[in-house]
Amino acid sequence: MNELSQLNKYFWHYKRHLASGIVFVVISNLFGIFPAQVIRYAIDFVQDTLVVNAIFNTPEFQPFYSSALTKAVLLFSGLVVILALMKGVFTYLMRQTIIVMSRLIEFDLKNDVFDHYQHLHIGFYKVNNTGDLMNRISEDVSRVRMYLGPAIMYTINMVILFVMVIITMLSVNPLLTAFVLTPLPILAVLIYWVSRQINQRSERVQEKLSDLSTFVQEAFSGIRVIKAYNRIPERELEFTELCNGYKNKSLDLVRVNALFMPTMILLIGLSTILTIYIGGQLAMEGKVSPGNIAEFVIYVNMLTWPVASVGWVTSLVQRAAASQKRINEFINTPADIVSPSDTSFELKGNVEFKGVHFTYPDSGVRAVRDLSFSVSPGKSLAILGHTGSGKSTIANLICRLYDVHEGEILVDGTPIQELNLDGYRDQIGYVPQEVFLFSETIGNNIAFSTSSENISQERVVEAAKDTEVYENILGFTEGFDTRVGERGITLSGGQKQRISIARALVKQPQLLIFDDCLSAVDTETEERILNNLKRIMKDKTTIIISHRVSSVKHCNEIIVLEDGQIIEQGSHTDLLSKRGYYHEIHEQQQLEIMNAED
Ligand SMILES: Nc1ncnc2c1ncn2[C@@H]1O[C@H](COP(=O)(O)OP(=O)(O)OP(=O)(O)O)[C@@H](O)[C@H]1O
Ligand SMILES: [Mg+2]
Repeated sequence: MNELSQLNKYFWHYKRHLASGIVFVVISNLFGIFPAQVIRYAIDFVQDTLVVNAIFNTPEFQPFYSSALTKAVLLFSGLVVILALMKGVFTYLMRQTIIVMSRLIEFDLKNDVFDHYQHLHIGFYKVNNTGDLMNRISEDVSRVRMYLGPAIMYTINMVILFVMVIITMLSVNPLLTAFVLTPLPILAVLIYWVSRQINQRSERVQEKLSDLSTFVQEAFSGIRVIKAYNRIPERELEFTELCNGYKNKSLDLVRVNALFMPTMILLIGLSTILTIYIGGQLAMEGKVSPGNIAEFVIYVNMLTWPVASVGWVTSLVQRAAASQKRINEFINTPADIVSPSDTSFELKGNVEFKGVHFTYPDSGVRAVRDLSFSVSPGKSLAILGHTGSGKSTIANLICRLYDVHEGEILVDGTPIQELNLDGYRDQIGYVPQEVFLFSETIGNNIAFSTSSENISQERVVEAAKDTEVYENILGFTEGFDTRVGERGITLSGGQKQRISIARALVKQPQLLIFDDCLSAVDTETEERILNNLKRIMKDKTTIIISHRVSSVKHCNEIIVLEDGQIIEQGSHTDLLSKRGYYHEIHEQQQLEIMNAED
C-alpha cells in the first residue's frame, strides 16, 4: 500500500476534482435514498386508504377515495421519477469529476514515466527488455488508473452510502436491519475471492498474450531470415501452440467470470427473501409497516453493488499496488548521467582523452584501457581496429552515453561531466554503428537530428546530396516523402546508412563521429562522401571509426586499437612506413580489392 502513496501528490494536484467528486457522491446517494422513502409513504398511504375505505364503505365516499388514491399514486410516481433523474444527474457529475481526475493523473503519470525513461542510462535499456518497459508504461499505468478512478470512486460511494442507508435502516428497525445485512459480508468475501481468481487468471491470459505478440512481432521483423532458412512450417506450429496456450487461459478466465453474476444474484435474492420473511413477521406484530418492507428491499438492492465492490475494489487496489511498485522501481532509479548546468556554450570541437579506462557496468567487460589521444577543430581522427577492440565504446564515451571511471575526457578543455549535456549533444553529430530509422518519411528521418521545427528543405536536400543518397531518393516515386517502413525495411543497407549519415550532417555539427557507417557503401561512393566531408568539416572536428583502411587513410591522425589499447598511432604514411599492424591490414585489404577486380 505504501507504494500507492507515491500517487498522493497527484491527488493533491487535482484536489478540486476529488473534493467536488465527494460532494457529488453524497448528493447522488441522498437522491438514491429518498425514492425508497417515497415508496414507503406511497405503500403505507395506499394501505391506509384501503383500510379506511373498507371501514367507511359507503357509495357516496367511493369516488372521493378513488380519485384521491389515483392522484396520490401519480404524485408519488412523479416524485420517484424526478428523484431518480436527479440521482442520474449527480452520478453523471460524480463520474465526470472522479473518473476524469483518474484520466488526468494517468496522463501525467504516463508522461512522467516516459520522461524518466528517456533520461535513464543506456545500461538500463540493456538490462530491461523493451517489452517490459512498454508494459510498465501501458499496462501498469492502466492498472494504477483503476485505483485512481473506479477504486477510489466506489470506495467513497460505498462508505457514504453505507453510513446513510444503515442509519436510515436502524431508525426504522434495528432487528430487521441486522437480519437483512447478514448475507452481505458473505457476499463481500465471495466477490473478493471471485475477483482475485479473475485477476490472477487475466494476468495469465495477459502473459500468454504478450508471448504471442512478441512472437508475432519477431516473425514480422525477422521475416527475411525466416523465409531464407525456410522455417515457415515450424513457425506456424509454434504459433498454433502459443495460440492454444492463450485460448486455454482465456477459457479458464471465462469459467470464473461466469460465476460472478450468479453469485451476486443469489446473495441479493437471499437478502430480499430474508427482508420479506422477517419484515412480514415484524409487520404482523405491528412493529413495522408494509411500506417499510418495500423500503428495505430497495435498500438491500442499493447496498448489494457497493458490498460486491468491496471485494472487487480490494483486488483492484492490490493489483494497482503491485503495478505501482513496478513503476516506482523505475521512477526511483536515478538518472545518473545528468547535466550539471544549463548554460549555453559554443562547442569548438577539441576532444582529449587522458588515461581513460572504461568497464561496462552490466557485462564487466573492460573495453578501454589507459587511452590518451586528442583531436582539435579542423582535424580528423580515425580509429581502426579489430572487431571488439573498443572503437564504438570510444564513440559512446564521447557522446557521454556512459561516464568514465578512471581518467578524464576533456571537451574544449572542460571535463565532459561539467558541460551542459543537452547543449553539447545539440552540437555533435553522431552516426551510430547500427542504423535506426523511424517509420517516417525519408525527409523527416533526415531532419530528425535538429530540434528547430522549420529546418529548410534545402538543408535536407543538401545533406542528402553530400551523402550521395540524393539520386536514390529521387528514384523513389514519392522522393523525400517516401515512408521508409518499420526500421527502414524498404531501403537497401547502403541507403539506410547514408540516410543515417545525412541525419548527422543536416544539423551542421561542430564535432562529427562516424561509427563504422560506411561499411555498406562501395569504395567509390565512400571516397565521394569522404571528399564532401572534408569540405563540410573544414573547421570542425571529425572522428571516423572503421575497419577499412580506405575510410581512414585521409585522416590527419589514425589510431589503431587492440583490446582497448592504442597499439599504433600516426598518419597513413607514418603507419605504412612502420610496417606494423596497420600496414598488414592495408596489404590485406589491397589484395582483397585486387582479387575483387580480377
Ligand atoms: N553495451 C555494452 N554492454 C556491455 N559490454 C559491451 C557493450 N558494448 C560493447 N561491449 C563490450 O565491449 C567490448 C568493446 O566493444 P565495442 O563495441 O567498443 O567494439 P568495436 O571495436 O566497436 O567492435 P566492432 O568493430 O565489432 O563494432 C566488446 O568486448 C564488447 O563485448
Ligand atoms: Mg563498434
